[in-house]
Amino acid sequence: MSAAAAAATTRLLRLVPRRLPSPKTCPFSAVPLHPPAPLSATSRWRRFCAAAQASAPAPPPPLAAAAATGETVGEFRRRTRVVDVKGGEDEGAAWVGRQLAVRGWVRTCRAQRTVTFVEVNDGSCVSSMQCVLSPDTEGYDQIDSITTGASVLVEGVIASSQGGKQKVELKVSKIIVIGESDLTSFPIQKKRASGEFLRLVRNALAYATHKFFQDNGFVWVSSPIITASDCEGAGEQFYVTTLLSNSAEGSCLVKNIPSTKDGLVDWSQDFFCKPAFLTVSGQLNGETYASALSDIYTFGPTFRAENSNTSRHLAEFWMIDPELAFADLNDDMACASSYLQYVVKYILENCKEDMDFFNTWIEKGIIDRLNDVVEKNFVHLSYSDAIKLLVESNKKFEFPVKWGLDLQSEHERYITEVAFGGRPVIIRDYPKEIKAFYMRQNDDGKTVAAMDLLVPRVGELIGGSQREERLDYLEARLDELNLNKDSYWWYLDLRRYGSVPHAGFGLGFERLVEFATGIDNIRDAIPFPQVPGSAEF
Ligand code: 4AD
Ligand code: MG
Repeated sequence: MSAAAAAATTRLLRLVPRRLPSPKTCPFSAVPLHPPAPLSATSRWRRFCAAAQASAPAPPPPLAAAAATGETVGEFRRRTRVVDVKGGEDEGAAWVGRQLAVRGWVRTCRAQRTVTFVEVNDGSCVSSMQCVLSPDTEGYDQIDSITTGASVLVEGVIASSQGGKQKVELKVSKIIVIGESDLTSFPIQKKRASGEFLRLVRNALAYATHKFFQDNGFVWVSSPIITASDCEGAGEQFYVTTLLSNSAEGSCLVKNIPSTKDGLVDWSQDFFCKPAFLTVSGQLNGETYASALSDIYTFGPTFRAENSNTSRHLAEFWMIDPELAFADLNDDMACASSYLQYVVKYILENCKEDMDFFNTWIEKGIIDRLNDVVEKNFVHLSYSDAIKLLVESNKKFEFPVKWGLDLQSEHERYITEVAFGGRPVIIRDYPKEIKAFYMRQNDDGKTVAAMDLLVPRVGELIGGSQREERLDYLEARLDELNLNKDSYWWYLDLRRYGSVPHAGFGLGFERLVEFATGIDNIRDAIPFPQVPGSAEF
């Protein structure tokens, strides 16, 4: 695409209204919970699971006949889950006397003389449903298969529980073992709760993220995962190439990788006819859309081939990159603070059971710490003042502290944990040499309008900046850094046609999960962690 075409695209984009009309119902708003209406027959719920269909009054028709009569697809209904029963203020008391079917996995099974207690967890909350079986229960003959890890369908009536641990339990009339679990080889230890519950908080944080930005008029933009540009210029990109797979049939001989006369890899023969990478940040693409829609955010996977085996680095992680047009660094800092306070408040209010769990077992006092984040103002500090503070602390750090050097995790944690007693701290105006090419140069000629938001335990949670919107400054900076201006033609065009001051930030989503739950290791914050030396799944 030519520069003119790019400009035309930008102009076209500008025709899109700046603010979408705010819908009466937010598209992300929660589906209302079922009121505890009588749930007499299992047929009230759509049965997704073939095995669970055993509870249907009649067996399903043979597939061919069903297809002909169009009977296989029922109306979609939200299923009642354990959280819907036990998650309310009354912990399920209003459900006493009502019928319920639970589909889930057995946590424990305790047989007593006359009754057997089976804890069934359906993944909707930390709590399981205590299910009480007696020898009269239909399916009781399968009791030997009701072992930890087995999947089951249990039906019965909710009753008040005699035990102190829960308000209600399920008096089971029928149990079906859907999938057995061989106890001799079952790999998961019985423990307080597994990482699945972290996923619930992760999900709530993602929901709150979309809600915050949507409610504030931002448009979600899907930035590409495959890209030809290096946003951060830090050389931490993974290549995307078919040269290896195409180099020889079924194997990969180095001598078959196409090369130029000079012995360099011949990218012109690659899939994209030039080097391509997995993105390290959606920011640059986000800027193009912010130059037409004003306020946008990206929220997607990002990748860094950074050989850091630490508790805060992943090779694949999710990033949220908002970009605000007609905004400076102060607007950016205000947005970052408000966003962080919003999502933290959201989980404190909406994930109470999970947060109590983290408060008891993972990090004592985390709820108080997060309440402080919501209620107190963040500390603002210039990079120069941060260096002064570190030097004057007289603390022995592993890495040197000197104006011009980047802050290391130990410095960041000292500032937020020790110097400011656990409050989030925003450091701004970093030396330009240690920051990316796109950041706006300050009038002192030495620093750029960058900001990092630091939080206890994690260190840097957010990195952001005001972008260099002046074409001549940006071109000069690209030259200084020996970056190829031609490959940034579309980025420079944004400065050629209708350039505006703009700013944005990137937040590492797994670091947010780590911060908000108190877990020690970022690898627990993502379902399938990919780190140096390990890409198992
Ligand atoms: O500070 P970074 O490198 O900033 C950018 O990528 C900008 N383009 C963002 C912007 O201005 N729109 O990365 C942003 C955040 C960091 O603050 C950190 O939270 C997270 O991404 N991050 C990582 N998280 C997990 N593992 C890694 N290897 C990470 N590298 C960065
Ligand atoms: Mg950074």
